[in-house]
Amino acid sequence: MKRLMMVLSGFVLSAIFSGPVENARAGEKGMELLMSRCASCHNLHGPAPTTLSGLWARKGPDMFYAGNKYRKKWLISWLEHPVRIRPAGMFYADHVVPGPERDVIDTSTLKAHMALSPADARLAAEALMSLRGHDDLISKETVPPGSISKSMGALVFDKFLGCIACHRIEPDYGGLSGPELYTAGDRLRPRFMASYIRSPQAWDPKIWMPNKHVSDSRIVQLVHYLQALSKGGSHG
Ligand code: HEC
Ligand code: HEC
Repeated sequence: MKRLMMVLSGFVLSAIFSGPVENARAGEKGMELLMSRCASCHNLHGPAPTTLSGLWARKGPDMFYAGNKYRKKWLISWLEHPVRIRPAGMFYADHVVPGPERDVIDTSTLKAHMALSPADARLAAEALMSLRGHDDLISKETVPPGSISKSMGALVFDKFLGCIACHRIEPDYGGLSGPELYTAGDRLRPRFMASYIRSPQAWDPKIWMPNKHVSDSRIVQLVHYLQALSKGGSHG
């Protein structure tokens, strides 16, 4: 009788805990997937490169703070259907050649990103969201909800701060050496955008994005502008 009770309570316990146990198993499977198929190009443990040669040799964006950076919904859909984010690859100098009027991208040297099955995309996204190497930086930011007109935002982004030199705000409009920002609102968490604009080098010590010492109120305007951009329509 005592034995039966023990078996029964074990059964009840495992029924109660099957949720978390299943999740833990999925988490483990997701981490295994990252280790076996992604770690050759993405740094899952940190720290970010501390030398220029390390930066230029980087094969893909650092992922050890993916959970601080990306929106999960975007991750899942991008991993199933990847589209180019950095118009000239990880290090633009490797893929940009002088053209008759301005530099052009040599697309023949750019490779497409692997696509995952829906099930693997979900597993990978889940595991990526658990990597939060920069909770410290994120906890310093608050971005109140709000909006800004696209014309005012463009003035700040293009004219006052010169961000357009490196970032595209439309598929064919803007610089080549940074990630496009017309999908940033879908891709990135608002507090990550604020923190990165405040201090790019706090995230990535050797990155060539300059710290423009943007004021708190301008940072919030920029985040609202990037959110507005990914809601569609043209700039201006
Ligand atoms: C051969 C190298 C390589 C492998 C392997 C690889 N990636 Fe990437 N990954 C890249 C590069 C390069 C980019 C930048 C693409 C761009 O800017 O368009 C990228 C971009 C990404 C992004 C978009 C985020 C961002 O900020 O650009 C995600 C998410 C991602 N990879 C996840 C993964 C996962 C998950 C795996 C494993 C299943 C994986 N990658 C395997 C090279 C790789
Ligand atoms: C000299 C070029 C340059 C300038 C000017 C520049 N950036 Fe960047 N920016 C970069 C690079 C390079 C990255 C990171 C590249 C990477 O992750 O591969 C970046 C990253 C970002 C990111 C994070 C995007 C992502 O997908 O990870 C945001 C947001 C951003 N910049 C906004 C701005 C804003 C706002 C300005 C103007 C105040 C600005 N940038 C000016 C080059 C630049």
